[in-house]
Amino acid sequence: MALFAQRPNPAAITRQYLIHATTCIITSNVPLAQYIFEQYILKQINFVGMSMSQPAHIEAFFDPTTWTISYVVYDQVGGSAAILDPVLDYDPKSGRTGHDNAQKVLDFVHAHSLTVTWILETHAHADHLSAAAWLKQQVGGKVAIGAKIGTVQQVFKTLFNLEADFATDGSQFDHLFEDDETFAIGTLSARAIAVPGHTPADLAYQVGDAVFIGDTLFMPDVGSARCDFPGGNAATLYQSVRKLLNLPAQTRLFLCHDYPPENRKPQWQTTVAAQRAANIHLHDGVDEATFVAMRTQRDKTLGMPMLILPAIQVNIRAGVLPPADTNGIRYLRIPMDAL
Ligand SMILES: [Fe+2]
Repeated sequence: MALFAQRPNPAAITRQYLIHATTCIITSNVPLAQYIFEQYILKQINFVGMSMSQPAHIEAFFDPTTWTISYVVYDQVGGSAAILDPVLDYDPKSGRTGHDNAQKVLDFVHAHSLTVTWILETHAHADHLSAAAWLKQQVGGKVAIGAKIGTVQQVFKTLFNLEADFATDGSQFDHLFEDDETFAIGTLSARAIAVPGHTPADLAYQVGDAVFIGDTLFMPDVGSARCDFPGGNAATLYQSVRKLLNLPAQTRLFLCHDYPPENRKPQWQTTVAAQRAANIHLHDGVDEATFVAMRTQRDKTLGMPMLILPAIQVNIRAGVLPPADTNGIRYLRIPMDAL
């Protein structure tokens, strides 16, 4: 972050600015430091106040093919909504895409007369293709992801040897969220929380009293997300999870996936308290070294997700399919002996 001499816009002040405020004290610019601290604290108080006063309405959509849960979160019927992690159907045998999953989301949006203002991705998924671009065409909304997506794009541009003009600055998305950036979904207050580890660009989204935690934790009896994709890091995931588990105990946590054992049905909602008490990988008392050793060992036993190669190629384009070849057909690439 560049240093500045003048008071920044209060809306732009995030946790990063506290470092700058500290520098201001050292350089004797106490009034500017005081201003930054005050604005930051006011923002936190406002966010907590609004979060407590208005619970978010949440509808979940489970895709049994990819074990993914997409969500619509909205302030009220007839109000504003965000769609999270929507799934584009894809048949790897035929290469055919479909919209059955996304159509269910669309039907819900229409039935509740919602205006979609955001389509939020927690990360560039490796297990399903994103329906963000298709849904944007149908109902609008800004497609957003974490600001570090460029790191992921760079890695996979190289792996897939994508077209030279494929941008690796995240510009395919309408908005890139920084850590701790706040935004609104109608009358709901929302906040992006950087939770890297599974990938470098993972975000969680806090909306009212709910947090959509992407691929960080799964249900307590399943554990945590893998950390062996390019740029993944188990120690980083540990720190991200501790950040989530420092939220109030009754905070509702909504998962991106469930891979249930045979004796139970898929679930996607839990709480901070339940995770701290019983998550098999990251309950309270598990230290970082123990988690990293377990996660690293376990990741060595996991095969690649079925759809990683098609999914990544579409998802780093914000859900837009690759450009058509000279014959008008779109192609996905399969790098051989590279992953
Ligand atoms: Fe993932």
